[in-house]
Formats: sequence, C-alpha cells, structure tokens
Amino acid sequence: MNRRQFILASVAAGVASAFAIKPNDNGDAYNSYFSKLNSSLKSNGSYIPSMIIDLDLLDENIAALKQTLNPSVDYRIVAKSLPSPDLLGYIMEKSETNKLMVFHQPFLTTLANDYPQADILMGKPMPVKAAEVFYQKLSNASSFNPSTQLQWLIDSKERLIQYLNLAQNQNILLQVNIEIDVGLHRGGLQQAEELDGLLKTIEDNQQHLRFSGFMGYDPQIVKIPSIVKSPEQAFVESQAIYQAFVDRLYQQAPQYKNQSLCFNGAGSPSLPLHKNKTVANELSAGSCLVKPVDFDIPSLSQFSPAAFIATPVLKKMVGTQLPAIEFAKNILPLWDKNMQQTFFIYGGKWLAQYESPKGLQGNGLFGTSTNQAIVNGSNKVNIDVDDHVFLRPTQSEFVFLQFGNILTLRNKTIENQWDILHG
Ligand SMILES: Cc1ncc(COP(=O)(O)O)c(C=O)c1O
Repeated sequence: MNRRQFILASVAAGVASAFAIKPNDNGDAYNSYFSKLNSSLKSNGSYIPSMIIDLDLLDENIAALKQTLNPSVDYRIVAKSLPSPDLLGYIMEKSETNKLMVFHQPFLTTLANDYPQADILMGKPMPVKAAEVFYQKLSNASSFNPSTQLQWLIDSKERLIQYLNLAQNQNILLQVNIEIDVGLHRGGLQQAEELDGLLKTIEDNQQHLRFSGFMGYDPQIVKIPSIVKSPEQAFVESQAIYQAFVDRLYQQAPQYKNQSLCFNGAGSPSLPLHKNKTVANELSAGSCLVKPVDFDIPSLSQFSPAAFIATPVLKKMVGTQLPAIEFAKNILPLWDKNMQQTFFIYGGKWLAQYESPKGLQGNGLFGTSTNQAIVNGSNKVNIDVDDHVFLRPTQSEFVFLQFGNILTLRNKTIENQWDILHG
C-alpha cells in the first residue's frame, strides 16, 4: 500500500468507526399507557413532581407474589420499600397479612399507632436509645402491645444486655429476634454456638426477655456471579447455615420446639428460591411489588414496574445550546440525534431512569440539577411544555420519601393521594 492509499484507508476506517459509535436515534412518542397517564395528569394532576403507583399493576404483582410464595409460609411486608401507611394498609388487606418488617424508629411509631393489630419485626438492630424513644412515644391510647406484637432485632450479646437494661428500667417484656448471618455478611451471629450465651441471658431474665426467633436475610444468593456459584447452590448453602441455628436452638433449649417462633427469611430477590422448600416459616419482600429498576433481575421476571415519577416539562428548545459552546447548538444534534431537542423538567436528579417518552437522556456537558434538570431527546419525542416526563425509580425506599405523597392510579386515571411515612 502506498502512502496515498494508506491515508485513504485510514480516513475510511476512521469514518466507519465513527459511524459505528454514532448514537442511534432512540426517541419515540409516548406509548398508549403513558399517553393516557399524561392526559389524566393534565386534567387532574398538580403539575409538580409526583410519585405514581398504578394499583392495577400492583394488584397483578400481589397476585404474582402469591404464586411465588411458598404456600406453607407466611408473608411479611417490607415496610421500608413501600413507605406509605395507606399503601401498606392496602397491601396488608390484599395479601392477607398483618406482618410488617420495619427499619426506622419514626416509622415504627407511626405504624404501631396506625395499625394496632400489626405484627412487627424490626429489620435491623436499633440503637437501644432509639428503642427507648419508641416506648416514650407509644400512645397510651394505642392497643398495640409491643410485648406480644413487636420483635426487636438483636445481633450481639452486647446489644442484648443493653436491651435487657432497658427492659429492667422500664419494667417491660421485650421480644428478641436474633439476626443470623446466612451468607450476606452484613452482621448477625455467624456461628450457631454463639447462640448459647444469648439464650442463657434470655433464660435467666424471663420476666424481661422472650426469645421470638431468627432473621436471616439472603439476597446474596442471586447476586453472586454465576460462574462463582449458581443461585441454587448458594441457596442450599445459605439454608444449611439457617438450619444449623435452628438445630442448635432445639438442642440447647428443646422447650422452644413447642412454641411458635418466627423464622424469617428471604427478600424480594431470593423469594422464588424458597418456593418449594425453606427453613423459614415466613418470607419478607417489599420492592418486588412496585419493582424499581434495580429489581429487573431474572428471579423477579413475573413482576412488573408499578411505580413511576411524573414531572412536568417546564421549557422546550430546539437543538442543544450549552454555555460557552453556543455555536455547537445545531452541530451536536448532527452527531447525536437525541440532542435535537432540549427540555427542562420540574425537579430532577432522582435515583431514577427516564422511562417515557422513550429516548430521553441527561446531558453530562450541562450537568444535572435537583431544581430544573436538562433532558435531551430527538425530534421523535413529541412532547411540549406542560406535558409530563415519566421516570422509573431505581429503588423505592429512599425515592418515595422525596415526594410528599403518592398518587394512586386506577384504570390509568388518578384516583387518590396517599401519605408518605415521615421522620
Ligand atoms: C432484613 C431484610 N429483609 C428483607 C429485605 C427485602 O426487602 P425488599 O423485598 O424490598 O428487597 C431487606 C431489604 O433490605 C432486608 O434488609
């Protein structure tokens, strides 16, 4: 190849590879679902960023949950992942359970007052001072009885002693559920023998402490790379650890065989693996019912997204005009058609991904904002000022809390406003 041919070949290769990486036009109009939702919001909405839950889709997810659950175990709702008292009440009724898993003292206080018939297991060990605040705040009028309806989670002998002191000082009885490490390594007892000392302390202080069961959370079983270990293998190993704790319990304290204990397990990601056989007698899940993006995993394919952020478009512009490179306004879209239009939306920077219209994207050159975020899209994105951009939260537990309430949707029409848990 002579020099001239070499240069031509290099230019051709450069052009070819530039075309290979040139972004596709990802834009599209709303599908009929989001088109109806946008119309409903335009006639009934408040034109501020809103968290929307589609109750028809939620109902389908509750039906899928019933199919996924092992029929011989109870279901416990993970409250932090569905943090609205009304939403929790709705799910309790539809899924026929009064069992909640709670992770935050202010939520515990609210839920014990709002649902005095609830059975509550704490999902993480609370500092003993936070537990004390719960007792101070519990309304005398509430019929919620913590000594039979609330299980505190205890992860060590030291914490058990702190809770014993609390119980002695307040002259109350505390139910103690012990956190066990079934492979996640986020804390809890690691060896079954560690149980002995805790059981002895409980046995010696029966007027203040009652052993109520174990909690072993196991999402790692679907997260370990499958070339390292299959989910089925990880499940078998995790269950063997759980079983070793149950065996040790019955060996050390056989009287518990005759008592009804709470052996809590799972979480949304691992729920289906417990379907046929599980050491647990109740399984917890929350996120799968609204299915944020992080739960788009093979084990949860039977669930559908049911929660969306809707936010109004405030401004619409042609091209993409950026500070200091104004000349590039119409050049950038030549490279990336998804920059043919610029929108600014009400709010932004949520833990969320753009969902509808298709093909919306942020702009790394402009940066992002929680006040008015920039959004680019191609000319196929046919929305205007006062239409809505829809996003899917990547997780529910924190994102829901950023909105004052939830708008419920029935038949693609806004129906109600439900409060979010505060605190
Ligand atoms: C102890 C415990 N159980 C269960 C869950 C499952 O919650 P979700 O189904 O929302 O993933 C969690 C989530 O963090 C957890 O910490």
